[in-house]
Amino acid sequence: MSEIVLGVSGGVAAYKAALLVRLFTESGHGVTVVPTEAALEFVGRATWEALSGRPVQTGVFEHVHEVPHVRLGQNADLVVVAPATANTLARAAAGMAEDLLTNTLLTARCPVLMAPAMHTEMWEHAATRANVATLRDRGVSVLDPAVGRLTGSDSGAGRLPEPEQIAAAAFALLAGHPRDLAGRQVVVTAGGTREYLDPVRYLGNRSSGLQGIALAEAAIARGASVTLVAANVSLPAPAGAQVVEVVSTEDLRQATLAHAERADAVVMAAAPADFRPVSFADAKIKKRADGQAPTIELALNPDILVEVVRQRDASSAVPVVVGFAAETGDAQGTVLEHARAKLARKGCELLVVNDVSDGKVFGRHDSEAVILSAGGETHEVPFGHKSALAHEIWRHVATLLG
Ligand code: CTP
Repeated sequence: MSEIVLGVSGGVAAYKAALLVRLFTESGHGVTVVPTEAALEFVGRATWEALSGRPVQTGVFEHVHEVPHVRLGQNADLVVVAPATANTLARAAAGMAEDLLTNTLLTARCPVLMAPAMHTEMWEHAATRANVATLRDRGVSVLDPAVGRLTGSDSGAGRLPEPEQIAAAAFALLAGHPRDLAGRQVVVTAGGTREYLDPVRYLGNRSSGLQGIALAEAAIARGASVTLVAANVSLPAPAGAQVVEVVSTEDLRQATLAHAERADAVVMAAAPADFRPVSFADAKIKKRADGQAPTIELALNPDILVEVVRQRDASSAVPVVVGFAAETGDAQGTVLEHARAKLARKGCELLVVNDVSDGKVFGRHDSEAVILSAGGETHEVPFGHKSALAHEIWRHVATLLG
C-alpha cells in the first residue's frame, strides 16, 4: 500500500483532517501527519499520533539523524495538504523551507494534492489567486474549496471539501491517471431533468447522476477545470467541480449552452426529459368529481446535444462533444445499429452506448459500454466501475483534443 504524507495547516478545519487520516489508514495506506505549528493550536499532537500510529513532528530539528526533512518527501507516494491555508499556499508557491511541511513539499517528487480552506475574501484575493495558479502550473492538484458555512456566521467559497471528497481525489492521484486534461475546461451534465405538472408532480426518469459524477471526478483527476451541470442529483458533488444545479430540460439547455462556449469538451451524461407538459398548473391538480383521469398534453423538448453541436459549428467555440445513448435492440435493429444512427443524427464526436435492456445501468456503480467515434471506431469497455468508464471516455476526448 502507499505512503501518504498528510500536511495539516492552521485553520479551524484542521479537525476534519482527523477523519481524513482514518479514511487513508482504513484503506491500508501508511500515513505520516505533518502539522504546522499553527495547526497544533487547533488539534493537538496526541490526536495525530493516535490516529496515524506514528510520531508527529512539525520542525526539522527533531530526530535530525533521520534527516526527516528530505526522507519524508522522497519516500511519499502522495502528499496531501488539508486544510491548506492562504499562508501555506503562499509558502508552497514561494518555495519556502521553514518547517517540516514546506521542506517535504520541496523534496516530494510524487503527486501533491492541496485542499484550501479559508475565508472567502482570502480565497478571492489576487495574491491567493496567483499562488494557486503558480501551484497548478507546477502540476499540484489544488481543489477548489466548497461553498457554504464558514467559521462564524458568514458563508461563501472557502469551506474545506468533505474528507470523503478529498480522499476520493487523493485515491485518483494514487491510481496514477495521466493529467492529459490539465488546463482544459470541461462541462459534464449529470442526472435526470424533471418537468413539473403542478407544484408537487413531475415527469422524470431513473438517471441517478452516478455516471456524470464519475466523469467529473475523473476529469478533475486528469487535471481539468470542471463545470458539472447537475439535474436533480442527490449525491454529494465532487470536490473541486463548479456545480450548476438545474431542474428542467430548459434549465439544463441554458446552462449547458452557456458553459459550452468556453469549454474544450462537453460530455452529456444527463438524461433530459424529452417531453414537458404544455402547461403548468400553479395549484395542485385535484382529482375530478366525475372520476375521470386528466389528460396531459405534452410538447417536445429541444435536443440539447444537437444544439451544442450546432452552436459549436456556428461559432469559434471548439468543444469536443460526447453524447450518451441508452439503447435496447428491437425489430428495427441491434443496440449498435441504433447507436450508429444516433451518432450520425446528433453530429457529436463520440457516443457512449449503454445497453439498457432489463433496466441495467440505472443507479448502479458499475456498467459496461461501447464508445463509438464519428470516425467509425468501436471501443468496448468491459463491465466495471463507472469511474473506469469515465476515464476511458476522457482518454478518447484527450486524444481528440490532441
Ligand atoms: N439529449 C439531449 N437533449 C434531449 C435528449 C437527449 O441533449 N432532449 C442527449 C442526452 O444527454 C444524451 C443523448 O442526447 O447524451 C442521447 O439521449 P437519448 O435520450 O438516448 O436520445 P434520443 O435522441 O432521445 O433517443 P431516442 O430517439 O432513441 O429516444
